[in-house]
Amino acid sequence: MKICVLPGDGIGPEIMAEAVRVIEALDLKFELEEALLGGAAVDATGDPYPEATRKLAREADAVLLGAVGGPKWDSLPREQRPERGLLGIRKDLCLFANLRPAILYPELANASTLKPEVVSGLDILIVRELTGDIYFGQPRGIENRNGERYGFNTMHYTESEIRRIGRVAFEAARKRNKRLCSVDKMNVLETTQLWRDVMTELSPEYPDVELTHMLVDNAAMQLVRAPKQFDVMVTGNMFGDILSDEASMLTGSIGMLPSASLDANNKGLYEPSHGSAPDIAGKGVANPLATILSAAMMLRYTFNNEAAAVRVETAVKKVLAQGYRTGDIYEPGTMKVGTKQMGDAVLAAL
Ligand code: IPM
Ligand code: MG
Repeated sequence: MKICVLPGDGIGPEIMAEAVRVIEALDLKFELEEALLGGAAVDATGDPYPEATRKLAREADAVLLGAVGGPKWDSLPREQRPERGLLGIRKDLCLFANLRPAILYPELANASTLKPEVVSGLDILIVRELTGDIYFGQPRGIENRNGERYGFNTMHYTESEIRRIGRVAFEAARKRNKRLCSVDKMNVLETTQLWRDVMTELSPEYPDVELTHMLVDNAAMQLVRAPKQFDVMVTGNMFGDILSDEASMLTGSIGMLPSASLDANNKGLYEPSHGSAPDIAGKGVANPLATILSAAMMLRYTFNNEAAAVRVETAVKKVLAQGYRTGDIYEPGTMKVGTKQMGDAVLAAL
């Protein structure tokens, strides 16, 4: 069982070091091998998703990623930006199903900017399509036309792309509270009319799951008005990008949220939902828990080891209950710790 470890940029290497310690402590005989992605890869090779990384990522059973990007690389040509490495590996490994849970831990209820009664007990899963939509659509570009600059992108989905992400979402809902809300913009965009039609056609195959539809603007509003109405939400790549950031903030702490990006065979790339946080990189203060929880998702989805996943998740809950907090989730009365001390606490709890 081989895991490709991609620490990435910014706080990536620091948080990854803690996740790796946790994985090694489980003593499950994983073979871990490191490679470069994002800005670190650009600096070393000029390519944000170099050939050596592609080879390792393809042959590994799972990929664990820290974070990519940073201001240092923002002015490079688009093909050399760290984000291109992330989009490249998602597409290359056909990781079309992005699962982004937003869970409010009771210990962190005060971290949310929303009233406790609105968010307490929150447990939502956003299923985002990850390899299609306007993110990858052609044609795209910025050109000169009629004497001015003209920017254009293309939104598109085939029905098979919609169906396969729909199935992932229905299956996920089946394992949870059996409610699925599909999010689109069918009042304006034809692509998403097709999205709604295909989701509706799938529904009879999952009679135990209640399917509803919501327009994306309303969904954005409902997420802050009454988020607990949702169980599983399924949507396209761009709407999912936006709604998942919004949902993460309901919990007050993006530093706690893991994610999984899966292909059709449950090979996956696992990464925290947050970014590379260049402002705190190298200071040893970043929260490693989202990366550690991403490793737990890896144990569950790719390695089918529910017991080990639960063991890691239970250890994380325990350190929160013990009062350990990194700066992003700190509040008076709790114990402020750095990245490595948080890792130590999780190891002790394991
Ligand atoms: C995410 C990120 C990426 C995305 C960026 C970094 C390309 O925002 O994983 O949500 O837009 O998908
Ligand atoms: Mg995003």
